[in-house]
Amino acid sequence: MENILIEKQDAIAIITINRPTKLNALNKATIQELHDGFKALNEDKSVKAIIITGSGEKAFVAGADISEFANFSIEEGGKLASQGQKLLFDFVQNLSTPVIAAVNGFALGGGLELAMACHFRIASTNAKMGLPEVTLGVIPGYGGTQRLAQLVGKGRAMELIMTAGMIDAETAKNYGLVNHVVVQEELLDFTKGIASKIANNSSVAIAKAIEAINANFEDGTNGYEVEIKNFGLSFGTEDFKEGTTAFLEKRKAIFPGK
Ligand code: COA
Repeated sequence: MENILIEKQDAIAIITINRPTKLNALNKATIQELHDGFKALNEDKSVKAIIITGSGEKAFVAGADISEFANFSIEEGGKLASQGQKLLFDFVQNLSTPVIAAVNGFALGGGLELAMACHFRIASTNAKMGLPEVTLGVIPGYGGTQRLAQLVGKGRAMELIMTAGMIDAETAKNYGLVNHVVVQEELLDFTKGIASKIANNSSVAIAKAIEAINANFEDGTNGYEVEIKNFGLSFGTEDFKEGTTAFLEKRKAIFPGK
């Protein structure tokens, strides 16, 4: 991998987007590598949570790589968005392994869209977030118009996208866009702490919960029905047997993840 680094620490994997001289901007190659990296980690059953962050102290991701699409036609523009959404943004949202974005600086355009596709976000105090696409004459194309409105509400999404404004980490927390704000030096350890808590729980149940929560935001899908189905299916798992047995035996569960 040329543009990303992957590190495994016990049950946690950390993906670092590594193009610091371009503020980790997402070019085509990086999107493909991220897809491949997420896919491999999701298939690795020893990985219980994935953290994604940016290299350097300045940026998580400063957007899609503007130099790559500056001369695109209408068709190429549409293809860029549809391929990117399929390969990375929808892919991450629907991953069965939990993905946490550790937003360590600028998260703009495609960078904020990537953070929003993750299951939740933690930011450092220096983080700045926004969707500045209209300053370039385009609109967010990696799911930003949909996910920002889902996370912060329609009115705030309208204002942020129309003004191309940037919000700081505290404002993002007030908006519900990020769950926690910590100083940059502590961002990764803090995020790993949350990932470790996740890793102790049933990965099979977590995967089913992710699917049910996401179902609420899918057109034509009844989230309550997905919940009922996944709740029922949980009863057939080894994790359920272990979790309930451990509770009744007054010991800590050791989940097989099956
Ligand atoms: N695409 C391609 N290259 C990018 C980029 C992007 N989205 N964002 C930053 N870069 C590159 C810059 O071109 C520059 O490269 P260079 O050194 O080869 O000229 C390098 O990263 C550093 O960026 P620079 O603009 O010099 O840093 P800064 O501290 O002055 O400004 C930002 C930081 C984030 C405010 C500014 O880089 C910016 O506005 N980036 C674009 C944000 C954007 O519109 N994103 C949405 C894209 S759809």
